[in-house]
Amino acid sequence: MQLIETIQGIRDAVDAARKAGKKIGFVPTMGYLHQGHLTLMQEARKECDFVVVSIFVNPTQFGPNEDFDRYPRDLARDMELCGSVPVDAIFHPSVAEMYPGTASTTSVVVSQLTTGLCGASRPGHFEGVATVVTKLFNIVKPDVAFFGQKDAQQVAVIRRMVLDLNMDLEVRPVSTVREPDGLALSSRNIYLTPEQRQGALVLSRSLRMAQERVAAGERDMTALQEAMRAMIAAEPLANIDYVSIVDYDSLQPTTRLEGKALAALAVRFGKTRLIDNCILSVG
Ligand code: PAJ
Repeated sequence: MQLIETIQGIRDAVDAARKAGKKIGFVPTMGYLHQGHLTLMQEARKECDFVVVSIFVNPTQFGPNEDFDRYPRDLARDMELCGSVPVDAIFHPSVAEMYPGTASTTSVVVSQLTTGLCGASRPGHFEGVATVVTKLFNIVKPDVAFFGQKDAQQVAVIRRMVLDLNMDLEVRPVSTVREPDGLALSSRNIYLTPEQRQGALVLSRSLRMAQERVAAGERDMTALQEAMRAMIAAEPLANIDYVSIVDYDSLQPTTRLEGKALAALAVRFGKTRLIDNCILSVG
């Protein structure tokens, strides 16, 4: 496994693999890896011959009052975890390598999909994500890129961007990995106190309730959204950012379930903002 810090270095490594006829798999991350990230890498390992993981805490997707500076970082531990899969190369560039010189004049905007859900309370976030992912795709030139369904809006944004801009790769969504008690794995879970962590179980509980009600025939998404909101609001440590049921593709609010919808939420426990979601579908 190679640790590569320069754009030229990763280009050379991937070029050599491609020339040898290898299929290139790519897993972009911000590090502080957990089993959710590892599952993406394992999926990439199954499907591809040369697996690249990027570890880069991307400053352009953090707002001025967000946790860029205190975002957890531990490269030595991340390297060990990558080695356990194993992956072929870790791309770990500095901020100066990715964003040299003066501020960039070009960024990627995926309109419509980014106004609601997390986009509403994190202005500029998805622009930062779409831009860095485009840069990473241009650097690594993967055949397949793996993204977690845990960040459902991110998956929708990237899929749409790849389609609209004719990027020559496949986007592979991977199901959310959870703790045995239901909490979705996240690098931010380490910020939680034991009480907040216990309280945060209400998130997966509310999503399970939504899926159970749909299985029992519920189609009124306004009522279901309110039931989820009430369940979460009853948890004293929870501070709701949003609880929304939206159409799976357009991410626009939906009042009746037809086909596929996304139940998505963002809730603060103290300063820590957690997100989770599940797919609701008829039949
Ligand atoms: P990060 O939060 O590190 O996540 C990297 C990838 O791991 C994302 O595709 C995310 O959806 C996936 N992931 C995180 N938790 C998961 C879980 N519990 N189950 C399954 N997958 C999970 O998302 C980002 O980084 C950044 O926005 C990035 C795409 C790297 C661009 O900077």
